[in-house]
Amino acid sequence: MKRLDQTTTPLFSALKNYVDNKVIPFHVPGHKQGKGINEFREYVGNRVLEIDVNSMEDLDNASNPIGVIMESEKLCAHTFGAQNAYFLINGTTAGIQAMIMSTCEPGDEIIIPRNAHKSTIGGIILSGAVPVYIQPEINEDLGFAMGITEEAVKKAIKDHPYAKAVFIINPTYYGIISDLKAIVRIAHRHNMAVLVDEAHGAHMSFHDDFPLTAMEVGADMSALSLHKTGGSMTQSAVLLTRGNIIAPEVIKQVINLTYSTSASYVLMASMDVARKQLATQGGDMLEHTLELVRWARDEINKIEALYAFGKELIGLPGCHDFDETKLGVNVRKLGYTGYQVEKKLRNEYNIQIEMSDLYNILAVITVGDTKEDLQALVNALKDIAGKTTVEEVKNATRVPYKPKLIVSPRDAFYSPKKSILLEDATGEISAEMIMAYPPGIPVICPGEKITKDIIEYVNILKAEHCQLQGTADPYVNHIRVLGTE
Ligand SMILES: Cc1ncc(COP(=O)(O)O)c(C=O)c1O
Repeated sequence: MKRLDQTTTPLFSALKNYVDNKVIPFHVPGHKQGKGINEFREYVGNRVLEIDVNSMEDLDNASNPIGVIMESEKLCAHTFGAQNAYFLINGTTAGIQAMIMSTCEPGDEIIIPRNAHKSTIGGIILSGAVPVYIQPEINEDLGFAMGITEEAVKKAIKDHPYAKAVFIINPTYYGIISDLKAIVRIAHRHNMAVLVDEAHGAHMSFHDDFPLTAMEVGADMSALSLHKTGGSMTQSAVLLTRGNIIAPEVIKQVINLTYSTSASYVLMASMDVARKQLATQGGDMLEHTLELVRWARDEINKIEALYAFGKELIGLPGCHDFDETKLGVNVRKLGYTGYQVEKKLRNEYNIQIEMSDLYNILAVITVGDTKEDLQALVNALKDIAGKTTVEEVKNATRVPYKPKLIVSPRDAFYSPKKSILLEDATGEISAEMIMAYPPGIPVICPGEKITKDIIEYVNILKAEHCQLQGTADPYVNHIRVLGTE
């Protein structure tokens, strides 16, 4: 196999050339390399605006890469062990939608864990696929969904032998990994494609202590948010493919349905450089990251009433492996909800974490973190715990996963709807999603029957001032429904 030179950055270098050559820009964007937006330029600096340019011969075109973008994508594919890589400028969201739309036609079934991110439901609505939901294992103590088991996938395949694809999350927001290798084997034996949401796994190929990635175990497609844990800028992501179940021509056509014709060179160049960094220094940088997060996890676990969960979860139902860079801390025994601890950390200690839920907070640790920052988090948690009279939270609230699907999400999306009070919605078929964001896992999806449990759960989330989204009503007091069965 020919080795590519991962120290090069074809796209970033071409952009720097363009800037250095002082080309006179009679092209959009209209800020003309920053000269037309002074206040912004003075704050963010010249360079980022100078490389914010448009497609042209020497800079290639993201909708049909044949030059420097193609070269950068090849390097990217190679470093992740894929056959093809496609730069995305609308996040893993675009990648997930492209994976589903490339694999499923209207009416095709797709096997999917019910704790998938909302972008998956978007992909299902756009493609017209019909979801076959698998219930993930729920860890009642921690209060969140784990992965899915090999047995659950086998059963779904047996019940739905003509499904086109199996969709897997690797890892979940909380760092939980299903047995992807075993699932790929089963799915492929049944001629089903394996599509993987690796929004939170862009770093995992670069250190042996991380769980296996989609490309490493022979999955067909993977969408990864290079911006979340790979070092590139927000919104930049990559779609990786291998194997021959899905034709590259189809993938490209699907991506181009929703791709901007003005893809951001700032975002794409940041991916070019992030890929170089991961390929050439990723191992050493992530070794340091792992040292930091292991230290922090140990320190937090010395604090009474806090539990920073980690690799000991491996072997519990639905947890085949664990990504240690997800520093989740269960705060139930502190007498606070995760939402309250998140607020305290921000308001009293100037620390912003990635997300919280009823029982947990989650910090995402990456190559950008330092010992000082982690020390500040540990100190803050010690302080919060020290000032709290420790009490066990009474009852764990059961997350009401897997409501009954009555009509396909696409049919629900396109059907006539009426808006009613959420309180009155028991028994109605939902036309909308409701989710806490983050993590963006829908409590109810379009086409599903709303139950009393779901309404109660949403009310609990509201009472905790958690950020709810998905309904046309921004306060989620009303929901649009189709009617009853
Ligand atoms: C599990 C999961 N999948 C997909 C996405 C979408 O990724 P992006 O924000 O890059 O579009 C997210 C975002 O948080 C996510 O948590």
